[in-house]
Amino acid sequence: MPVTLQRTHAQRPWALIDLPPFPAVAMRVLKLLSKDDVGMKELTREIQADPALSLEILTIANSALFGFRSEVRNILQATALMGAERVKAIALTVAMKGYLTKSFQIPALLACWRHSLASAFLAEDLAKAALMEKEFAYIAGLLHDVGRLALGMIKPMEYANLLAAADEKPVDILEQERELFGMDHCHAGAWLTQAWKLPKPFVEVATHHHEKPSGKFDIVSIVHYGCLMADAVGFEAVRPQEPHSLQEVLRTLPDRERLRFRSDPEQLATQVAMRINSLE
Ligand SMILES: [Fe+2]
Ligand SMILES: [Fe+2]
Repeated sequence: MPVTLQRTHAQRPWALIDLPPFPAVAMRVLKLLSKDDVGMKELTREIQADPALSLEILTIANSALFGFRSEVRNILQATALMGAERVKAIALTVAMKGYLTKSFQIPALLACWRHSLASAFLAEDLAKAALMEKEFAYIAGLLHDVGRLALGMIKPMEYANLLAAADEKPVDILEQERELFGMDHCHAGAWLTQAWKLPKPFVEVATHHHEKPSGKFDIVSIVHYGCLMADAVGFEAVRPQEPHSLQEVLRTLPDRERLRFRSDPEQLATQVAMRINSLE
């Protein structure tokens, strides 16, 4: 069902009324996502305006994740070495992590964040196999469950209890969310991505990632499979109602992507875990 964005604060869905504002620097980075031709200088200027964000980006740029031989000393250099899209992806990851930190005290909500990261990495790998832009897929994966992260932030204990109950006995989590919040996390994600004026593909991913892809293998399909694979390699946010093994998920991919995608579940799980660790 298409989600209509209501523009005024008064019309914000009640479930999202108490959501703290997204950090200003993250909003600026999100704005840059809508522009294809962001120059290195513009991106550097936005990021350097926030010294804590700059420092974290440099720490990640100098981590084993990238393995540069010499030290990356400033954001301009990081952008030159990694590319503007990669720096945007890291900046958004760091900003979201900072925004959600309080939720991480609750293990079930930390698991939701790790699921988002795992989905982002797997969407990126899948985009490589599909010859699509990998940073774009990473960001779409990172944002796909933004509605879930928001619901978890607004009512942390209630949402964690809902996830715990689903762990005991698999349920339709979207249905449960609708009962608790009057909206599910796809609807919440649709509302937020539109309110943040993100490019349309991110809105579509947040809205439709739980629907079985049909037709063209696009960014929504990539993130749908990235999310299922994250579940299959042990990074689920909630126990799936119908769990699938990695091999089962891979079997449903189009031939080209399936053949190009590495498929050893243990190796994949280890690699995803290592990448997540390097961001924590
Ligand atoms: Fe989801
Ligand atoms: Fe997901």
